[in-house]
Amino acid sequence: MAPACLVCTGPVEEFLDLGRQPLSDAFVAPGEDPSREYFFRLALGRCAACCMTQLIEVPPAERMFHQTYPYRSSSSAVMREHFARTAERLLARRRDPFVVEIGSNDGVLLGAVAARGVRHLGVDPSGDAAADAAARGVRVRVDFFTERIARDVRAEHGPADVVFSANTISHDPNVNSILRGVAALLAPGGEFVFEDPYLGSVLANTAFDQIIDEHVLFFSVRSVVAMVRRAGLELVDVERLPVHGGQIRFTAAHRGTRPVSPAVAELLAEEDDQELHDSARLAEFAARTRDRRRDLVVLLRRLRDGGARVVAYGATAKSATVANYCGLGPDLVSAVIDATPTKQGRLTPGTHIPVEPPEAFGPGKADYALMFAWNHAEEIMAKERAYSESGGRWVFYVPEVHVV
Ligand code: SAH
Ligand code: TYD
Ligand code: ZN
Repeated sequence: MAPACLVCTGPVEEFLDLGRQPLSDAFVAPGEDPSREYFFRLALGRCAACCMTQLIEVPPAERMFHQTYPYRSSSSAVMREHFARTAERLLARRRDPFVVEIGSNDGVLLGAVAARGVRHLGVDPSGDAAADAAARGVRVRVDFFTERIARDVRAEHGPADVVFSANTISHDPNVNSILRGVAALLAPGGEFVFEDPYLGSVLANTAFDQIIDEHVLFFSVRSVVAMVRRAGLELVDVERLPVHGGQIRFTAAHRGTRPVSPAVAELLAEEDDQELHDSARLAEFAARTRDRRRDLVVLLRRLRDGGARVVAYGATAKSATVANYCGLGPDLVSAVIDATPTKQGRLTPGTHIPVEPPEAFGPGKADYALMFAWNHAEEIMAKERAYSESGGRWVFYVPEVHVV
């Protein structure tokens, strides 16, 4: 029997199997027993009823998001700037608002809110990240946001004028509870703004590495319209964002309280034109994904056999899918460079490639660098200009395998 849709319980039809995978942010610490790693089957399907694209098997949330969850939003200057601008926009034309963020991580957005003396609360289960946020003057409740927590927050602090969430509600199989909570927490006239990866961009770029344990749902305008409606909300605006390889900023409000921007119907029409939810389109994406694996493995083997020194750049969660799906271990990629202190000195999940700081990289230290953080390529290549100028090359696999 087909698995039940996480949103509407309709039948989910599988279209891509990426095999046995570890948790994408579960870096292995020195001395930790790697045979104790948690594995699951990473596969993607689409609900025949509401069109939500989603994981077939979802690992327990507490295994992914916990005290020592290593991801830190502030590691990218581009994202710091993006969220500072986003905060400004959320606060524009509001007098003395109360702002709640779901998945506030290290306070990359709420830091800008707190700096203006605005009342706010972050909700995030990752304790160490919340401690980083506290150091920025941000108040965080260390918890998963649910309908129950939302009612609690409202009872304690009053209704929220703005609820914001980036890269979080698409990570939670209990998204209906989150949305009911948001509906209960929002003040009349309030808005819920959320930014998440866009299914249309994933397909357009063959960005198969966006498929990871944490990315439980892949939003489209069509599936989000139906999803928010279940909680008494209405999608009132959509805006495409260039960050993280292509996202949408969705704005929802209590049903009937705001005019709906024409952008919603425009993007819905575009999705129909592109047959975004068609089985044939999804099968084609799956076939292109298999082609990328073949092309990348052929290239990396050729480089190794020719004696080139190959490393990777960016110990992203996304790279766990690439490395495990393509079978990339230390024999093909000797190290992964990453600026995040909580990842350095550890081994990549499943494939056990050592994570090293940017100081281990540079002119003469590698011949090829596999760009795992392709969504931050511009920022990273600007930082590592000396490597390129000395003849170092970069290998990409999105939108296809190529060397620059
Ligand atoms: N908003 C940041 C962080 C994204 S990482 C950004 O866009 O960069 C996802 C974050 O959501 C993690 O810090 C994780 O701990 C948190 N998270 C996951 N499920 C959650 C939930 N149900 N409620 C609140 N936070 C959650
Ligand atoms: P990101 O693509 O934001 O997310 P995910 O882990 O969900 O795929 O991760 C980017 C990683 O790249 C993060 O570990 C930080 C690292 N990074 C650097 O090491 N240097 C940089 O200049 C930038 C921008 C990122
Ligand atoms: Zn559904």
